[in-house]
Amino acid sequence: MNNAARTLPRLGKIGYGGDYNPEQWPEQVWHEDVRLMREAGVNLASVGIFAWAMLEPAPGEYDFGWLDRVLGLLHEGGIAVDLATPTAAPPAWFFRRHPEARPVTHEGHVLGGGARHAFCPSSPAYREAAAGIAAQLARRYADHPAVALWHVHNEYGWSNHACYCDASADAFRRWLRQRYGTLSALNNAWGTTFWGQRYGDWAEIDPPRLAPPGVNPALQLDYLRFSSDEYLDCFRIERDVLHRLAPGVPVTTNFMVPNCKWMDYWKWAAEVDVVSNDHYLQAERLDNHIELAMAADLTRSVARGRPWLLMEHSTGAVNWQPRNIAKVPGEMRRNSFAHIARGADSALFFQWRASRFGAEKFHSAMVPHGGTSTRIWRDVVRLGAELSNLDELVGTRVASDIGIVWDWESWWALELEWRPSFDLRYLDRMSAYYERAWRANRTVDFVHPEGDLSGYQMMLIPSLYLMSSSAAENLAAYVRSGGTLVVSYFSGIVDEIETVHPGGHPGALRDLLGLSVEEFLPLRAGDRVRLERNLTADVWAERLVLAGAEPVLRYLDGPAAGEPAVTRHRVGQGTAWYVSTRLNGRDLDVVLQEAGLTARDGLPDGVELVRRVGDSASYLIAINHTDGDVEVAASGKELLTGAPCHGVLPLPAGDVRVLRAAS
Ligand code: GLA
Repeated sequence: MNNAARTLPRLGKIGYGGDYNPEQWPEQVWHEDVRLMREAGVNLASVGIFAWAMLEPAPGEYDFGWLDRVLGLLHEGGIAVDLATPTAAPPAWFFRRHPEARPVTHEGHVLGGGARHAFCPSSPAYREAAAGIAAQLARRYADHPAVALWHVHNEYGWSNHACYCDASADAFRRWLRQRYGTLSALNNAWGTTFWGQRYGDWAEIDPPRLAPPGVNPALQLDYLRFSSDEYLDCFRIERDVLHRLAPGVPVTTNFMVPNCKWMDYWKWAAEVDVVSNDHYLQAERLDNHIELAMAADLTRSVARGRPWLLMEHSTGAVNWQPRNIAKVPGEMRRNSFAHIARGADSALFFQWRASRFGAEKFHSAMVPHGGTSTRIWRDVVRLGAELSNLDELVGTRVASDIGIVWDWESWWALELEWRPSFDLRYLDRMSAYYERAWRANRTVDFVHPEGDLSGYQMMLIPSLYLMSSSAAENLAAYVRSGGTLVVSYFSGIVDEIETVHPGGHPGALRDLLGLSVEEFLPLRAGDRVRLERNLTADVWAERLVLAGAEPVLRYLDGPAAGEPAVTRHRVGQGTAWYVSTRLNGRDLDVVLQEAGLTARDGLPDGVELVRRVGDSASYLIAINHTDGDVEVAASGKELLTGAPCHGVLPLPAGDVRVLRAAS
């Protein structure tokens, strides 16, 4: 049995469908829904995500009749169900009974109702009620033949990543006791001799609420860790109920990689049976297909390479960005295939039928307001038909060769206040380095700093401000045994408790890089510095003192004029590169290519090639984001057209091909 067959035993094909909210429609529409789902090849619908108030209209009074009928209709139609626990939107009665369960913001405001996600993750009442409704659903539907997957909650932490109420403060103190054991360990870790912040009792510790500037960064960082863990506990509570009462049905919750900064998805992914992700394009960006690829690669990476589910994306425009640019014809299809290329075993959407009312009525859907006489509907039907030919891809693994180190904790720490420059931004560097790999058609895995690096010929560290000593040793061992490592500036500066590594920057990496950074030299907004080989950079420069590293490129002007900007250090069998300034685009390419990141396949920029490999066959997914036709050198059978291909795979402008490669 392949992996996906194990993760979704009752589906076994590429999942196609999306969020289905029948509670917003009269019952006669449900029949039309199932008919249209069949027409579109839908095989998986996520049901009940926000239906708590309809399932439990009053405390302890349940109405499952409508859901029974919906599941029955879907099952008759051959459509599997991803059944949700509705805990992202507790009913109004719950907050009337438990006003203390409302979340409190950093500024001390209690959030009101009328939306969703308005609960405190540490609230005992919320946790109990969530476990209760999950148990009701699990008992009732454990053996329902339609239920292929449990969808716990919806997007933990999205609207509201941390709560600052008193219950949260208590939970934080418990979390700290567990982490540090004693107050003196906590005082040491947090450096509370600074500004006389020493704590003499656990009860003196508060969440980092609105305060004068300069709140202890170690406290802030721990609060972010705690908040991610509190939501994760909420998930675990529901998951355990489902595992106990409905064994055998896998459990997921939809992540928002990488758009939700606040959940540590390395930790989260270890707790779900199958990873699923929601992804929405940054609609105004012309290169948003590259950001999509990064999200998909990161999702697969947190899933440790196992198949994952694309739980939500959109057929067209969303409704929540400043300008909700519509997808152009062909774009939805390219987006879906790009996720599948990078390891998704589904292409699901928010949502099946566009809502007529509520906050999301201007969001695109599989069935738009205009119904079946629309282009979007025709494209939805076409995509469903195409995906139904690709079941053999299910469970295959993506072949990758470049590693990028990714760490949520480092991201959080980097972007606390009072850093040497406001322009030090985690996603800025991640996207810049990722983009170069994407344009070179090299498939990227993201790796935890303490993860297994052995399979990668090259590792990139675009930004890793916070680095533990064991991560540093992991990287050093990688280089010694023959790896090529490229490190960007302001990495390896502090340890996991936000304390500067001793002995000069970058303390965790000094020996490995063969240099130290004597002084950070942030640049003024808009200023640029020139480097040898006609490169220009901005934002950041450094005064380096080499101790074994050789200079590769020097600064020609700016605050470090004449001094090394890019260096190389041979260590054991490998090489560690250092880039001390902010290079972008082709300027960054010059360095990365010299370090070994060479382009594959010789194709024009904008043509995306990814390989998925199974036990008996491998597949090439080719996506042409350009407006010119291209040819890809490949042989095998093209699965969308059925055409055999001998040496040359034609890939028309804007089109997609999936080739089962000749062995
Ligand atoms: C998120 C949510 C959905 C919906 C979409 C809209 O991903 O999970 O419920 O709000 O966004 O884009």
